[in-house]
Amino acid sequence: MQAQLDAIVSDARRVLDGVQTIAELEQSKAQFVGKTGSLTDQMKQLGKLPPEEKPKAGALINAAKQQVEAIIAERKDAILARELESKLAAEALDVTLPGRARGRGGLHPISLAQERIEQLFHSMGFSVADGPEIETDYFNFTALNTPEKHPARSMQDTFYIEGSKHVLRTQTSPVQIRYMQSHQPPIRIICPGRVYRCDHDATHSPMFHQIEGLWVDEGISLADLKGTVTQFLRGFFEREDINIRFRPSYFPFVEPGVEIDMEWSRGVGNSGNEIKWLEIAGAGVVHPQVLRNGGIDPEKYSGFAFGMGLDRLAMLRYGVNDLRLFFENDVRFLRQFA
Ligand code: DAH
Repeated sequence: MQAQLDAIVSDARRVLDGVQTIAELEQSKAQFVGKTGSLTDQMKQLGKLPPEEKPKAGALINAAKQQVEAIIAERKDAILARELESKLAAEALDVTLPGRARGRGGLHPISLAQERIEQLFHSMGFSVADGPEIETDYFNFTALNTPEKHPARSMQDTFYIEGSKHVLRTQTSPVQIRYMQSHQPPIRIICPGRVYRCDHDATHSPMFHQIEGLWVDEGISLADLKGTVTQFLRGFFEREDINIRFRPSYFPFVEPGVEIDMEWSRGVGNSGNEIKWLEIAGAGVVHPQVLRNGGIDPEKYSGFAFGMGLDRLAMLRYGVNDLRLFFENDVRFLRQFA
């Protein structure tokens, strides 16, 4: 009997050593300890033995069964350990890999330039005022001395809103009137914002940006305009060698009216020391009628106003040569400013 049991145990070791999965293990173990397994068979034979031999035989069978069960348990542990190991290997995290960077947003160059301009004017005592982009015909033109049929209107052909007295504002100048109507001098403001005209080519976009400036107080003159704009430009371009010049010009809401040119000698795209004059703003002494329209007494107060092209300033500051780049929203372009 011992020999038979030994054979069963070694059979079990051989068969079970070959199984690779828990399912196979469950199937194979039935051959030995299942209902019809070889060890179970031995148990059944016990009954046929003479009573005095039973205890000893029973003990032998039990010992063999414990051995087989130990082999099964050992094998089960080994299979589970191996499965865990391969699962861990498959899901391995390499903690030394560099992290994936998240795309970071940034301000648009026009916004950057605007913030910079606001800071500089702030330091000169100006505050920032705002007005609507959908403006009434009155504020955009009439109150600025540009009545209906005035030829200056056609220079700013714009988008009219059908059946109403509203236009998309063509200039930031209407904010002057709005502000004067609710404030008395001293007034020192800039108004940055979007404006609209029916223009579209390499240097004109139907939407663009202006910065309006207005300083009204007793005794304000063109000299103050010159000092303010010069100081602003030197700060904006971080160059002390920038000068400006006035050229006589006409705008209905100023008298006298000027165009401001900026001296630009070693600027982008202009090598050598040849001096170039770039037009950067329209300006002038606020017309007495415009002060009156704003509720301000022209006998007591005077002021200057200017309107600058923000996009032009941003192009010069950042060395951008095509206005359209600002509005195409190509991230390869925009990323450079982030
Ligand atoms: N609004 C004018 C334009 O868009 C620019 C301008 C000229 C503004 C003279 C002013 C000014 O405040 O005084 O062409």
